Amino acid sequence: MTITESTSARPHNRNLPPRVPGLPLLGNALDFLNRPIEFFLESYHKYGPIFRITAANQKFIVMGGLEANRFFSQDKDELFSSEPLFGEFAVQMGSRNVMIAQDGEPHRHMRKIMQHGYSKSGLAPHLDAMAELTYQTVSTWEPGQTLYARDAFQRLVTEQLGLALTRHSSREHFEAIRIYLSTLLNVLAIKRQPRILLSMPHYVNARKKVLEFVKLVLEEHRQTPNPQAPDLVDDMLTALDWNGDPFKEEDILAAAIGPFFAGMDTVANTMGFMIYAILKHPEVYEAIQAEVDEHFANGIPPYTELPKLQHLYAATIETLRRYPVAPFTPCGTTRDFEFAGYHVPAGSDIIIANGLTHFLPEFFPDPWTFDIQRYIAPRKEHKQGLGIFAPYSLGAHTCLGAGVAEVQLMVTVGALVRAAKLELIRPDYELKSVLMPIPGPDPKFQIRVAKRRL
Ligand code: HEM
Repeated sequence: MTITESTSARPHNRNLPPRVPGLPLLGNALDFLNRPIEFFLESYHKYGPIFRITAANQKFIVMGGLEANRFFSQDKDELFSSEPLFGEFAVQMGSRNVMIAQDGEPHRHMRKIMQHGYSKSGLAPHLDAMAELTYQTVSTWEPGQTLYARDAFQRLVTEQLGLALTRHSSREHFEAIRIYLSTLLNVLAIKRQPRILLSMPHYVNARKKVLEFVKLVLEEHRQTPNPQAPDLVDDMLTALDWNGDPFKEEDILAAAIGPFFAGMDTVANTMGFMIYAILKHPEVYEAIQAEVDEHFANGIPPYTELPKLQHLYAATIETLRRYPVAPFTPCGTTRDFEFAGYHVPAGSDIIIANGLTHFLPEFFPDPWTFDIQRYIAPRKEHKQGLGIFAPYSLGAHTCLGAGVAEVQLMVTVGALVRAAKLELIRPDYELKSVLMPIPGPDPKFQIRVAKRRL
């Protein structure tokens, strides 16, 4: 790695990464929005681990592959920054201390405070409640009924996380939470919707409702603190900020929204892909059903035991690999640097294509095939070393809730399979991935409840 000091008068003859040709005006926008993983893979094979793309009026430098993943993961806040991309996201959340937008020491400080609230051990007492909520949801489904998977899973996952991490149900506020988050991501993170949406009543009212709701969450935590088993909000209320002062009200409010945002697209989309993948592989579905019938019958096993349900665990990991919902990480650069022989100027918009390695046959043979045997000894393909299996991205902002996500996926998919026999509308149905705002199952994807089993 070579880092060079940034200068305002930048020489023009530096060796910039190759530019991927695109259409007039649109540039590479269509490929980027419609088939991002395939497009990045083709460009990686053609141009190497770094290349430039344009999407309408935006310019990005894309870095992908193992070398790029490792380079990104080893950065110690010298080169990459989240602030340029998520700074405005934080403004819209009303706080200067939103973790995803922070860099350096203040960011590391915030991660430490939130570590317990977003940990598997913090989630441990709530596993039975998570499964119970799944069973209750299934009990409202009629045999023969069809369901839009994305919508159903977004509601379930968000409610589970709200109850487990803040003791509050999201049910009545779900639509407002969904509008608030999707507008922020579409307008500010992937910039595919116009800024005007941020001043439209649809968004403004949703944001107001969510803030009113989390104010109640804070009030309840202040009145009934739980020092024996503090959750994320209890932790924020007692923690000090980076300067040693109590956090401001707006910082605690923004932090309390986090659990309601965290799984809405990520876990719910992964769950949609996972249900599709196991329905397409009936032998895997049946093996998972046998495991959960045996091991979930007297309550959910401790999270440390869940990976022993080999098929459930391997199907979860394989879904995260084959259907990564966060295959790229946008960020900015704070200094000039060289990578793979090319110059990257300070102030560039970068996309780290962390999920490309999942589709390189040297790491995952026959990479487009869903194959849970990859994770069963002796293959263990997810344990090949840093930067190869990277569904949660890498580096300073790598997902703090990765453990929670995996446990939630195993408990909820396991409970769904135990409580109902699900099926595809048509056995030959092929699921499309849609960027909205991160890759997810086509919102029109439906599953049918063949029968209830509990
Ligand atoms: C399959 C599920 C999930 C995936 C694929 C995922 C992926 C990611 C990724 C890629 C990032 C980094 C974003 C960036 O660098 O810009 C991230 C950050 C984060 N995730 Fe997740 N996530 C998942 C579920 C969850 C869940 C369930 C929680 C909490 C309950 C959570 C909490 C967080 C937090 C707090 C951050 C911010 C970390 C920081 O800024 O330091 N995630 N996630």
